[in-house]
Amino acid sequence: MDKNIVVAIDGYSSCGKSTLAKALAKKLHFIYVDSGAMYRAVTLYFLRNETSLKDHDVIIDALEHIDLNFHSRDYQTHILLNGEEVSDEIRQMPVSENVSAIAAIKEVRMQMVKKQQKMGKSKNIVMDGRDIGTTVFPNAQIKFFMTADPKIRAERRYNELSIKGEKVSLEEIFENIAHRDFQDTTREESPLIRADDAIILDNTNLTEQQQLEFALEKIKPFLAL
Ligand code: DC
Repeated sequence: MDKNIVVAIDGYSSCGKSTLAKALAKKLHFIYVDSGAMYRAVTLYFLRNETSLKDHDVIIDALEHIDLNFHSRDYQTHILLNGEEVSDEIRQMPVSENVSAIAAIKEVRMQMVKKQQKMGKSKNIVMDGRDIGTTVFPNAQIKFFMTADPKIRAERRYNELSIKGEKVSLEEIFENIAHRDFQDTTREESPLIRADDAIILDNTNLTEQQQLEFALEKIKPFLAL
């Protein structure tokens, strides 16, 4: 392989980034990396240890004790926190409510970005997050910036969590999404912004299949190189 292909997908919370990223990775036989899962797993580590999320010095010192690994099975990505599978737990509300605070810490971001860049160094990958096209892979060949109506995003998330049996109201989810959008776009370190060369994908009225087709069409020229 001359040069590996990186597809960067950024965008707001719960707007289908990971669904599209997984579908693309499956179709193209690329590796999928969910960068949000890394921030979530780090957050879970500190919640379990009852660390005050305001105590940045303690958090920064403890980072060296956190080992994160991905493994893929049946095109599903599983994340391991110090060897333990935490893929489900990191999606639950305690993590969702606290992850933005952890993701705003500069030293946490520096470590995560380093790991992410290593993963995309020599392999074809699809990575989703908030700063993939701007900071992690500013030279990615293809960048998407995803967005959707916040009400639709909350409903989709609500349905997802309800299926898993989590008791949470639509209102709570809406508030959480609005809060994370605010934190992600206004933080000092790598705030969520669209890279100048990112293709906007508003999926408010698009099915998953339509989004996949749209994205594949944009990626096609790079596959033929
Ligand atoms: O994509 P997600 O909802 O699982 O992300 C969880 C949180 O992590 C979200 O509040 C923003 C943050 N995040 C980030 O700051 N940078 C990334 N590359 C990915 C996620």
